[in-house]
Amino acid sequence: MEQEKTNRDAYPTVSGVGDSRKVGMSTFLIHGKAQTARWDFSHHTVPPLSSSVTYRLDSAERGGRGFLQFGRRPDEDAAPVYIYDRLDEPTRSILEDDLAKAEGGEVCCTFSTGMAAISAALGVLLKPGDHIVAYGTIYGCTYSLLTRWLSRLRIATTFCDFTDLAAVRAAIRPETRIIYAETPGNPTMEIVDLGALCALRDEVNASRPADRTVHVIIDNTFASPYCQRPLEWGADMVVESLTKNICGFGTDMGGAVICGKRYEEDLFMYRKDFGGVLSPKSAWAILVYGLSTLTLRAKRQIDTAFKVAEFLEQHPKVAKMHYPGLRSHPQSLLAEKQMRSTLGTFAPGTLLYFETREDGDEPTRARRLINWAATHSYCITLAVSLGNIRTLIEAPGIMTHSALPSEAQKRARIAPNGIRLSFGLEKAEDIIYDLRDGLAQM
Ligand SMILES: Cc1ncc(COP(=O)(O)O)c(C=O)c1O
Repeated sequence: MEQEKTNRDAYPTVSGVGDSRKVGMSTFLIHGKAQTARWDFSHHTVPPLSSSVTYRLDSAERGGRGFLQFGRRPDEDAAPVYIYDRLDEPTRSILEDDLAKAEGGEVCCTFSTGMAAISAALGVLLKPGDHIVAYGTIYGCTYSLLTRWLSRLRIATTFCDFTDLAAVRAAIRPETRIIYAETPGNPTMEIVDLGALCALRDEVNASRPADRTVHVIIDNTFASPYCQRPLEWGADMVVESLTKNICGFGTDMGGAVICGKRYEEDLFMYRKDFGGVLSPKSAWAILVYGLSTLTLRAKRQIDTAFKVAEFLEQHPKVAKMHYPGLRSHPQSLLAEKQMRSTLGTFAPGTLLYFETREDGDEPTRARRLINWAATHSYCITLAVSLGNIRTLIEAPGIMTHSALPSEAQKRARIAPNGIRLSFGLEKAEDIIYDLRDGLAQM
């Protein structure tokens, strides 16, 4: 921390004790000792939970310097001039430095939620008349953001199947500025070939002027940086919900954009002006409890996902199983190439998707299994979200992806009898016990 000497060092601390000026206890309880060496970042083992909306600036010149520097954060060894929480703040900055490294990026800008991060990534790149090519298999609220809100700004989106790169190529227009995807796809666990997608972008950009280039944005919420780092494959920006795997305990919401330095100023300016900042208290929890345990949690959840996927794949009441770790997954080789843990091992993610075998057209078994889990299961909770210490079950067609009209769901291969499971930290055998029991009742 930069410590500039001020005449506040001479202030007495409390009424009756000081030598040159007396302040009342009420004043003292607000200001305390005016300068304290207790605020010592460099010797903490746990980052301090900083919680100050505004910052004392020492002098007008230092304040001016802070405003001038804003949006171009000095490297992490230099102390920034903090001004106001919505601009920048210490606990959040520490989380951002760590997250940028986890994703292999130069810069991270956090937001209050994953959706705020996605809105910002799109917001800094787009203007009216631009066009997006998006994967049809995406989170329902992202679909809604693109179709309900961005369309009002004359920003059109073409949805297509990103497992077929010819379809992506065909959808690109001269006005296209963004190629947007999730991989593994939510909820079907289809894999988008990141290297091939970025090569397609490079090919398109080769004949474009610098201000009309196409950017690849990847939502890495499902995989988390433990399983996959899209920037290493050439993506321009990673967006993710910190609410999920990274927070990990289901206690705090957050979002992040991680990218190269060239987007830094726009992202921080956008966050300042649209205001969706991550609360320092949430940043602290995500940093101290979430990020630090990500590797441990993800390893355990992947082990569980393998075991449960193998169990469900063999079950007579399961018609289709989608887990990128299984040989039966149509893109298992691509998954094995692309989804590598930070330890170098195959890391096919902590979720799976399956379809129940139904007797007719109605998803009767799927609904009964979900409702059975809600009322009878000990360790499977009916709830949306993912990346929690609890195992969560949901029906994407009527829950997380209900914003997609039925035609769009069909195109995205989201089946009415589809069920998504996100693994927690329970023992795999206990989850299998509950699923076996539930399926036996169907
Ligand atoms: C893939 C994906 N991206 C983004 C989001 C949005 O995150 P948040 O709920 O933190 O806004 C979600 C939420 O479920 C998600 O599943």
